[in-house]
Amino acid sequence: MFSSSDNSKPIYGRTLCLLIALTFISSFDLVRCNWFSPKQTGIVDAPLLTMQIASNKTIKVAQEGGEFSSLQAAIDSVPGGNSEWVTIHVWKGVYREKVTVPENKPFIFIRGNGKGRTIVTWSQSSANNTESATFKVNAQNVVVFGLSIKNEAPTGVPFSSHNQSVAVLAGADKVAFYHCAFHSTHNTLFDYKGRHYYDNCYIQGSIDVVFGEAKSIFHTCEIFVIEDKSAELRGSITAHSRESANENSGFVFQNGKVYGIGIVHLGRASGAFSRVVFANTYISHSVVPHAWSLWRHDDGSTKDLFHAEYKCHGPGATTDKRAEWSKQLTDKEVEPFLSIDYINGKDWLPAWQPAAVAAPSADSPACVTNADSHACVTGADYTASQK
Ligand SMILES: *[C@@H]1O[C@H](CO)[C@@H](O)[C@H](O)[C@H]1NC(C)=O
Ligand SMILES: *[C@@H]1O[C@H](CO)[C@@H](O)[C@H](O)[C@H]1NC(C)=O
Ligand SMILES: *[C@@H]1O[C@H](CO)[C@@H](O)[C@H](O)[C@H]1NC(C)=O
Repeated sequence: MFSSSDNSKPIYGRTLCLLIALTFISSFDLVRCNWFSPKQTGIVDAPLLTMQIASNKTIKVAQEGGEFSSLQAAIDSVPGGNSEWVTIHVWKGVYREKVTVPENKPFIFIRGNGKGRTIVTWSQSSANNTESATFKVNAQNVVVFGLSIKNEAPTGVPFSSHNQSVAVLAGADKVAFYHCAFHSTHNTLFDYKGRHYYDNCYIQGSIDVVFGEAKSIFHTCEIFVIEDKSAELRGSITAHSRESANENSGFVFQNGKVYGIGIVHLGRASGAFSRVVFANTYISHSVVPHAWSLWRHDDGSTKDLFHAEYKCHGPGATTDKRAEWSKQLTDKEVEPFLSIDYINGKDWLPAWQPAAVAAPSADSPACVTNADSHACVTGADYTASQK
């Protein structure tokens, strides 16, 4: 499974490694000493995505020297009804603009130069979530890598607007974000509808940080909870709007962490059939012991709510004071939520990382889509087979 370079590693490499390990880190894993010839990493990065998506058109966006100096202008240049992957490479810089990928422009790969380096930002609050959003994806088959997206509107501050300020709206099926960061104070990520995959994203917010009625996997994502100064403990990481048993939707958080400077719930029920799972997640004191709130359903029945956790850890993961309707899932019950099949990822994702049952590890190989078998092919095997 791993490259053979492990065996041919030069002896001085191992010796040097041993010296460094003994000098600095007594618990260093000598067996996997790979500082000098790293094997295929498990992280889905830009080269792996670029290889998988294999587009033959790249548009360069840069503040100087690009074809465009605005991301929206680059998107506008893609012809409507586009049916082949187009890469839009957005070089580092702060892009002050609102961005929409319209419904008729699928197969766009927006590749930033890394969160905190390529930043798209705007400042708008509104009673209408869609109206406020900095970055909207309305087309299917859109992949975004390495971008920070912010809505800088000062909501949630005492005596200011109580309007929402969405950073990102994912409003179409088959949308994936890898290594992105989303910042806002109120309704950060409008995970509106469709199947979505978020990998290694950093999501900052206080009230309804992730809301909507999409069917999404958040793999190894970090939720950073900021303070909600506008009201007394109304904040919640999720507000899922599933309204009936027929709706095939729900948010699944795998192998991530929840922490920050504010105090919130893990979820509040926006719909009577709200479905949210936190699995193998680190939970800090930022989550109240009760963890789940009924919100709009506080005089309704709780029988249709699916507010669930599985093997979470950390000081906020203690279950004895949890809301009585919330669930601690068994190995069997959690299974469908840990599989990439939950969002049929093998059919449309260029690459993903399988959910780890224990703590996540950067060594667990990434999977890439194999159109023939729909199997999980590791990035290392795939690279080898292409040579
Ligand atoms: C791009 O590549 C695909 C196959 O990889 C090919 O079918 C298509 O014609 C190419 N398009 C252009 C504009 O070269
Ligand atoms: C919210 O804004 C969007 C986009 O401007 C608009 O299409 C929609 O009708 C608005 N919704 C409401 C309820 O006003
Ligand atoms: C909410 O936004 C609307 C439209 O942008 C604005 O007219 C209104 O004053 C805002 N509400 C508050 C409480 O600031």
